[in-house]
Amino acid sequence: MALTKVQRAAQAAGKTLANRQTPFIFNEWYVAALGHEIGRELKARTILGRQLVLYRQENGEPVALDNRCGHRSFPLSRSSLEGDTIVCGYHGLRYDASGSCVEVPSQCNCAGISIRSYPLVEQGPVVWIWMGEPDQADPKQIPAMPMLDQGWITSCDYMPLKASYVYLHENLLDLTHLSFLHANTFGTPDYAAAEFDTEISEDRFILKRYVVPTRLPPVWAKPTGLEGRDAARITTSDFVSPALHIVHAQFYDIALPESERPDTRIKTAHIPTPETATSTHYFVVHGRNFAPEDDSITDFMHQQLMAAFHEDIVGLEAMEELLSNMSREDEFFEISVKSDIASVAMRRYLKRRAEAERSQHSAPGAVQSQPAINTAVEV
Ligand code: FES
Ligand SMILES: [Fe+2]
Repeated sequence: MALTKVQRAAQAAGKTLANRQTPFIFNEWYVAALGHEIGRELKARTILGRQLVLYRQENGEPVALDNRCGHRSFPLSRSSLEGDTIVCGYHGLRYDASGSCVEVPSQCNCAGISIRSYPLVEQGPVVWIWMGEPDQADPKQIPAMPMLDQGWITSCDYMPLKASYVYLHENLLDLTHLSFLHANTFGTPDYAAAEFDTEISEDRFILKRYVVPTRLPPVWAKPTGLEGRDAARITTSDFVSPALHIVHAQFYDIALPESERPDTRIKTAHIPTPETATSTHYFVVHGRNFAPEDDSITDFMHQQLMAAFHEDIVGLEAMEELLSNMSREDEFFEISVKSDIASVAMRRYLKRRAEAERSQHSAPGAVQSQPAINTAVEV
């Protein structure tokens, strides 16, 4: 079937955008887990397509190693944790927290045998991981989550998402979907057409939307006391890094002069960590700067927000299913509209980053981040 002129133009423009087929970006800090997910059991988790095992040492420090035993690929997550070491469940090779093998039961020498370990940094409720070139791991580059430093009241959660992280980032930069996908939760009909402006730079993509005047949905109206009032809802979607997106919203009664408006704000960190090309670990850290004493507000807002974010999961998974069943890739196109301006720029950035990493790795003499197969043997 021939495409129309507009469809062909969209198809050509789409070649510069990241999508579910774009390689991962490794040289970034990603959230590997919420802190409470890592304990004294061996936990398997796939991140950026790599199978890892996570656990905590006896002193509480988290550890991430390749899940594949260097001997014959038995999953270390199905092995035993003894003290701070893992004893492989197949032939008993023992690895310490750095990934070095410290015992081979069938021989005396284990020098040189190792598997890859990954730097972790625990900050507040999350544990960050560096999956990229080991010599480029710099904890100072971990993106900030301001709600954790400002003494705000926070709650966090995790949802598995069977869709690409690219589309989750796009979902967060395109909040016109609130009027439709979230019509039954925190969307309002006026949201999609509200005025917005953007700030787009080399690596940061921000869309600010002004829904004024509006009536707030219960998730914001109840805790702010703005039920039944003409209110302002000003929302900023901020792509901070491939691993972090922060949505910041401010609410106030428009009848009040500026000097009398209570400072009522929320910030939600949406944290997409790619699992595979078509699945994502979706972490959420939500914070508010008001009603600090009221736990019932924390529970109410958390439950309402997670119900709304579940609608994103359902929508994104439906898109993924449709795309994975699409038979004619040559007929694929995505037509962008005005409100996509920030997300199109963001997807171009992700594609550029992925291609730059890929060309670095394929350059002559480049160091590959894949661990070499260890051949230290004593036979
Ligand atoms: S596969 Fe792990 S010790 Fe053999
Ligand atoms: Fe949404």
